[in-house]
Amino acid sequence: MQSSISKELSQFLENSPSCFHAIDNIKNILLREQFIQLQENEKWQLRRGCRYFVTRNDSSVIAFTVPEQDISGMRIIASHSDSPAFKIKENPELETDGHYLRLNVEGYGGMLCAPWLDRPLSVAGRVIVKDHLGRLCSRLINIDRDLLLIPSLAIHMNREANSGYKYNIQKDMLPLYGSIASKGTFMKMLAEAADAEETAILGHDLFLYNRQKASIWGAAEEFISCGRLDDLQCAFAALKGFLAGEKATHLAVYCVLDSEEVSSTTKQGAASTFLYDTLTRIHDSLGYTREDYLIHLADSFMISADNAHAVHPNHTDKSDPSNRPYLNGGIVLKFNANQKYCTDAISAAMFRDICGTAGVPVQTFANRSDMAGGSTLGSISNTQVALNTVDIGLPQLAMHSPYETAGVKDTDYLIRAAMTFYC
Ligand code: CO
Repeated sequence: MQSSISKELSQFLENSPSCFHAIDNIKNILLREQFIQLQENEKWQLRRGCRYFVTRNDSSVIAFTVPEQDISGMRIIASHSDSPAFKIKENPELETDGHYLRLNVEGYGGMLCAPWLDRPLSVAGRVIVKDHLGRLCSRLINIDRDLLLIPSLAIHMNREANSGYKYNIQKDMLPLYGSIASKGTFMKMLAEAADAEETAILGHDLFLYNRQKASIWGAAEEFISCGRLDDLQCAFAALKGFLAGEKATHLAVYCVLDSEEVSSTTKQGAASTFLYDTLTRIHDSLGYTREDYLIHLADSFMISADNAHAVHPNHTDKSDPSNRPYLNGGIVLKFNANQKYCTDAISAAMFRDICGTAGVPVQTFANRSDMAGGSTLGSISNTQVALNTVDIGLPQLAMHSPYETAGVKDTDYLIRAAMTFYC
């Protein structure tokens, strides 16, 4: 069971080199499961007993199922589609010394720089092209071959390299693309991949990604490594649980939102009205009043699922002395007194209760009191749609590296908890 789930997760991660690919893959899974795609710019006429989804910016998705019976509240799991990476700038080709061509990139989110060096990289995302009818269309792009590499500086040229290094993205992190003979070919390559003329490309959102495939490894094959486990492991597991759950009494909602790594403040992020708009439109279309929506909201629960830091085997002192999650130890409940995580006594109890019913182990995370930690989408989403919310995640190592590590059992634990939640 765990090995087939891990293989499926590996496939999902490898096929999702950008947030646009992740959402496209989720969309295709939903379509296969007879979900009906709604458009935000059309009227919604929802029917009871049916399943739907809507995307925004092709980088966020909200799927939901309407029960046959009257709704008794909403059950929502939210995760995120984006990951820290390097984004290709406009006019990307940079000529170096009349010999090399590099690409100009900038940081997206807070990545670990070092592990991006000395490994084959490529480019994925979307381009906007003007088609022969004059319409602007989005095309997914994945240059599916080893295309780029960011070489380290040799130890002989910086003897201090192993004593701590401050990375300057503009100087240290620009990938080598080719020799000068390839000048002027990058946009051509994109055009070819988009099946369009170079002049038809009017915009792009493109990111570098690590070409290394997912690996299931360890003495008993208990670990999984790949890029983007934060947060596609949660997006994947929550989707499996969402599809398997019965969803009989409540409005079951599954969200994957973009822009978490850049503070969620985009039109499609957790700080936007996307979730609020969708939930209120569902209520309007089903003939509920605004008060009905507020009553349902008061009876609702949200699980904000974003990966958590496991105790690092070489840096055990970096974790809190009494809240120490380990890989394969179960789902992590995240706590923070200043409410960077929105878990409180009530939502912790509700989540522990769900996991108890599902027979799934729960671990706890809090930052050391002398270390500032991260934040995630739960508290941000609550500023638009306020409801009891818990912050959880699956334990992982090397968060924000282009090759992260998690436990194979934990994916299955979240699938089972999500299935129980959407009962
Ligand atoms: Co995350």
